[in-house]
Amino acid sequence: MDDLFVHTLRDIYYAEKQILKNLPKMIDKADSPLLRQGFETHLRETEGHVDRLESVFELYGVEAKGVTCPAIDGILKEADEIAGDIDDKQVLDAALVAAAQAVEHYEMTRYGTLIAWAKKLGRGDCAEILQQTLDEEKATDAKLTELAEGRGINLAAAE
Ligand SMILES: [Fe+2]
Ligand SMILES: [Fe+2]
Repeated sequence: MDDLFVHTLRDIYYAEKQILKNLPKMIDKADSPLLRQGFETHLRETEGHVDRLESVFELYGVEAKGVTCPAIDGILKEADEIAGDIDDKQVLDAALVAAAQAVEHYEMTRYGTLIAWAKKLGRGDCAEILQQTLDEEKATDAKLTELAEGRGINLAAAE
């Protein structure tokens, strides 16, 4: 269980770093200023997610390193391929929101699991730090839904 916890920490550490690399590309592609702003905010938050994971590694007494996570690589690759195929700016924005939500949901499942395991392992201190990041991922996901449905990104794309 202890090994599994560390492996999963390393998986999400790798994922956060890949997300950090990909968000600037998504910012460049986004047409809606609100969407671009949302991505920029989350880019800064994501830097904090990496820092928090490094704190958890330290608290747990293991080396901070990533292990390749094929799941996040696949999600990001698919997003890139789909975005490359779209010419219409509004449709591209809708696709970017969808891709970003797939990323957020991946992060949410990983952090949810890590928090549950940290508690079982008696590491409430680690769980508390991971919870702060999970809250930001959830808030980002909700913001993306609001942009797509409330602010008309999906509607504009369908017109
Ligand atoms: Fe994150
Ligand atoms: Fe995120």
